Amino acid sequence: MAHTVTVLAGDGIGPEVMTATLDVLEATGVTFNWDHQPIGEAAVQLGLNGLPEETMASIDRNQVAIKGPTATPLGGGHRSLNVRLREQFELGANIRPIRNFDGIDTRFSDVPIDLVIFRENLEDLYVGSEKEIWAGAEAVSRMTVARIRSIAIRAFEYAVAHQRKKVTIVHKANILKLTHGMFRDQAYDIAAKYPTVECNDLIADNCFMQLVRNPEKFDVLLTTNFVGDLMSDLCAGLIGGLGFAPGANIGDRHAIFEAVHGTAPDIAGKGIANPIALMLSGVMMLDHLGESNAAMRLRTAIETVIRADDVVSCDGRVSSTSAVAEAICLRL
Ligand code: NAI
Repeated sequence: MAHTVTVLAGDGIGPEVMTATLDVLEATGVTFNWDHQPIGEAAVQLGLNGLPEETMASIDRNQVAIKGPTATPLGGGHRSLNVRLREQFELGANIRPIRNFDGIDTRFSDVPIDLVIFRENLEDLYVGSEKEIWAGAEAVSRMTVARIRSIAIRAFEYAVAHQRKKVTIVHKANILKLTHGMFRDQAYDIAAKYPTVECNDLIADNCFMQLVRNPEKFDVLLTTNFVGDLMSDLCAGLIGGLGFAPGANIGDRHAIFEAVHGTAPDIAGKGIANPIALMLSGVMMLDHLGESNAAMRLRTAIETVIRADDVVSCDGRVSSTSAVAEAICLRL
């Protein structure tokens, strides 16, 4: 059966890493109908808005999308298209696995890093409620019991299904007593229903310090939207950079797969972006589509190329985006 998937190439390095990713996904032998839809600058160039109606309708229809990064202006300008997509399709869970790879030299090459971030994806400071006050500005952070319980259940269900031993709740409940305090309490309430999974909690600043000292001690990390955003890039840094960190935005009906990284304007158009993060997001998509055999083969091919071939150097740089895709297709 062919899978129809919405393709959102995105801005900056998005189109480059997307082409490479679609090539390796097709090389698995799984049949796809790619429903290409404009988003971001590509949509604006067509005279549409950054998130056109037809693009939204396509995601709604297909329920699965793979997405490149989209640019968000700093300070003023339009609201993040990502945040709007997550809201529109109620993608309450942002799941970001972090593992180190044989063949990439990092400060932690000799310790096994294998953790998964479960980041609440709809609330916290991302509700986008800011306003000017006298001689300043303020932002609202909103959290609700239902959303916290929902991300916590996903984290614990994942832990059970993947034989994970521990879930660490990460928060700032010492300062944000109502919002983060509720996050911690509700997460512990869910934890009580999963007695086989160990659960502890850490204040975010302490957690970040421990992550850069002993990342191998972490397993599943369950955290809020804002803390999870910062944590994701930090964890990508542990394993060789943003070129290796995949992700998935999951809701009850829809799922959008995208890497942690942004549009990388400094290297866009040069053909040197690392496509592995989006390819690994593609592996997550294959699993989501029930193509677990293809997912395993693609993951193995990616790992083999990182380990054995000369297209990915040990400092994490790639000789070219297309060379990585070709090497992985050959392995497949
Ligand atoms: P960034 O992730 O685009 O880049 C940070 C650094 O990592 C840069 O030096 C870049 O060259 C490098 N990098 C990122 N991805 C790479 C890859 N695949 N291969 C090799 N090097 C890579 O973050 P930045 O510069 O803070 O954001 C740029 C734009 O991207 C902003 O407009 C931001 O809002 C947007 N953004 C979009 C995201 C999304 O759509 N999911 C996520 C994060 C940022």
